[in-house]
Amino acid sequence: MRKFSRPKIALIGAGMIGSNLAYMAAKKGLGDIVLYDIIEGLPQGKALDIMEATPVDKINSIITGTNNYEDIKGSDLVIITAGIPRKPGMSRDDLLTTNSKIMQQVAENVKIYAPNSFVIVISNPLDAMVYLFYQISGFEKNRVMGMAGILDAARFRSFISLETKISVESISAFVLGGHGDSMVPLPRYSYVGGVPLPDFPGMTQAKIDSIVERTRKGGGEIVALLKTGSAFYAPAISAIAMAESIIKDQKRVYPAAVYCDGEYGYNDLFIGLPAVFGGNGVEKIIEIKLEDHEKAALDKSAEAVEHLKGDLRNLKFLS
Ligand code: APR
Repeated sequence: MRKFSRPKIALIGAGMIGSNLAYMAAKKGLGDIVLYDIIEGLPQGKALDIMEATPVDKINSIITGTNNYEDIKGSDLVIITAGIPRKPGMSRDDLLTTNSKIMQQVAENVKIYAPNSFVIVISNPLDAMVYLFYQISGFEKNRVMGMAGILDAARFRSFISLETKISVESISAFVLGGHGDSMVPLPRYSYVGGVPLPDFPGMTQAKIDSIVERTRKGGGEIVALLKTGSAFYAPAISAIAMAESIIKDQKRVYPAAVYCDGEYGYNDLFIGLPAVFGGNGVEKIIEIKLEDHEKAALDKSAEAVEHLKGDLRNLKFLS
């Protein structure tokens, strides 16, 4: 007889994004949650706090906190936020050395204790961190992905909504490329009530340029305001959308950092592309025909990601 069981979700890093992931995953009933962090007491305290919210919120998930990797044993899905966030004036790439050391440890432990899991990386610099995890873990390419495109597209949608005064629910947007200043928001594939953004009444090229620029710098805008860390609500819900699509085999299409094996002409590289997320993880990368200037912008972004890969080699994180 078939026995149903709840998915087990491990969250590596119990900081601002990690704790929001725990609460959001619990609220959506995605499974039982284990919060891991190196700081003693932090994941336990946050897990207990969320657990004490469950009776009021009618949540059935079990949430635990730990400093012991053994507790993530058998996890179906792992989301990694371990690392340091940006401070004002820092680029995501400035985090490379510190976060690579952390990612090395995390990948080695996930490989041992959750060898069959699907893994979503959030730690920055995203495209380099997800590549490092992929190399160290040796997991198949469909099981490893980075969260960036949904967040960048959500920022793009929010700014389009502010400009047009149309509900975000009627707005869709597309952002490809690396999760850095070279990301590629695509106005032609972004719609307001089904109308392509450039054709929307009142929309001008100058307005589009300014929305695109604000989207590119969206993370930095928040870092400059917070002063002590980076964004956490929008990154967390974006990763939860990917996790939900995988756990419930929803087959939603999202832009995300996925491993390229020839798609769009790229090889051995994680970069933001539209893909189908389902029970088998990254089930398919969707290849669309880009205009020359769009492909040139994506190539430039891919070059920036290749450069980060070179840095990982120079720093001896990769051979
Ligand atoms: N193993 C596990 N957790 C670790 C490790 C490690 N080796 N090193 C640090 N951590 C934990 C920290 O103790 C902290 O609780 O990672 C957590 C990170 O949380 P925050 O500092 O609050 O950062 P957060 O805002 O959650 O961002 C995490 O995601 O978006 C990216 O740029 C961001 O790289 C950053 C990451």
